[in-house]
Amino acid sequence: MTGFDPDFDDTVWTDAWLHVPIAQAPPGRHPGGYRVERRTLHQAKVFDRAYRLARPFDCRLLFDPAGRLWMSSTPQEHIMMYNNGRCSQGHVLVGGLGLGLYPQYAEAVGGATRFTVIEPSEAVRAIVAPTLSAALAVPLAVQAGDIETALSGPDPARYDTIFLDTWDTLDAAHLPYINHLRDLALRRLAPGGRVLLWGYRWMVRLFEEACRQLLATPPAQRRPWLRAHAKTSPQGVALLMPVAAHFEGQAVEDPEPALDWCRRYVVQAVIR
Ligand SMILES: C[S@@+](CC[C@H](N)C(=O)[O-])C[C@H]1O[C@@H](n2cnc3c(N)ncnc32)[C@H](O)[C@@H]1O
Repeated sequence: MTGFDPDFDDTVWTDAWLHVPIAQAPPGRHPGGYRVERRTLHQAKVFDRAYRLARPFDCRLLFDPAGRLWMSSTPQEHIMMYNNGRCSQGHVLVGGLGLGLYPQYAEAVGGATRFTVIEPSEAVRAIVAPTLSAALAVPLAVQAGDIETALSGPDPARYDTIFLDTWDTLDAAHLPYINHLRDLALRRLAPGGRVLLWGYRWMVRLFEEACRQLLATPPAQRRPWLRAHAKTSPQGVALLMPVAAHFEGQAVEDPEPALDWCRRYVVQAVIR
């Protein structure tokens, strides 16, 4: 697919991000009840594995007015933003702002020369944009709005990189909606441009693992297996239904070719 590489994996381990200075939003209370806390981490979970950190790590946590943790600048988040930043070039469209890590990596270790960020939360814009703007040497425009609307609208601008990171969790069930955003974004790329999607390969891997389990189940047991999982993940099961239909009645001896089909299917699946 021109402009998007579904095999690009932003969870590839690196510690190069530790050498990039990153400005973080100041701790404090903000209008509307939002709160940024500073936390020193001595250990952290990175891609499901627990690590003891060689040096104490300065992290920010953003809490919403109900006191729920909304975002955090954990080592895992830094690794993923570094990996995406390294592949970023030119004028970058970003959805959304979050804690503002990605643009700093995209400028420092990528080739980003200008950012347009779409962010719906007034609180996030007020808390993060001043620090980010001061940290960047290149122009930054932070606009209120929704990235899907922005990508669907009449804006004639074309971007060298479009980085999307608006979903809160890495869940394979998000893929059809993310693919929809990707397809909108592909139409907005300048020649040679690239769409980057936070955690995409990780989510495809989660889907492959679910398919592996489904196809390891005897054919007659697959529908009951799906029904049993429908209560916990209805959207995940809906995404698996075409897999069950495609391999209906077939015992899968060698899972790898079957998983190739599953991967191709999920990269194309789009919400209707
Ligand atoms: C996980 S954070 C992004 C982290 C960011 N990449 C960083 O470097 O810190 C997700 C952000 O997307 C924003 N967001 C959620 N829905 C959105 C939408 N429809 N359009 C644009 N931004 C959105 C959230 O308000 C939040 O600020």
